[in-house]
Amino acid sequence: MVKISVTDLAGQTSTIEAEIGLSLMENIRNNDFDDLAAICGGCCSCCTCHVFVDADDVEQLPKMEDDEQFLLEDSENYDPALSRLSCQIEVDDSMSQLRVTIAPEA
Ligand code: FES
Repeated sequence: MVKISVTDLAGQTSTIEAEIGLSLMENIRNNDFDDLAAICGGCCSCCTCHVFVDADDVEQLPKMEDDEQFLLEDSENYDPALSRLSCQIEVDDSMSQLRVTIAPEA
């Protein structure tokens, strides 16, 4: 388990105990954040698991694949520096103290 801070659409930040090996999306959903729709269930086809990663934490994440990039670029609130699809990030023990904010259309 690692601690990850998640800010919801109302601006409220909570720290969750994230399970290593699950995606960031699964961990957020497992902690009852209704703001994250994740409609496709993690198949990288809906963009409703969009999060903004804190600028200081972006570099610690694995680089995104092309399909994630294409989906995000079509997103209304895409931020080239901070946007990620949370279903495409597998939580590992290097992500302790990661901070993310759920994107408005997620
Ligand atoms: S849950 Fe659909 S792209 Fe992530």
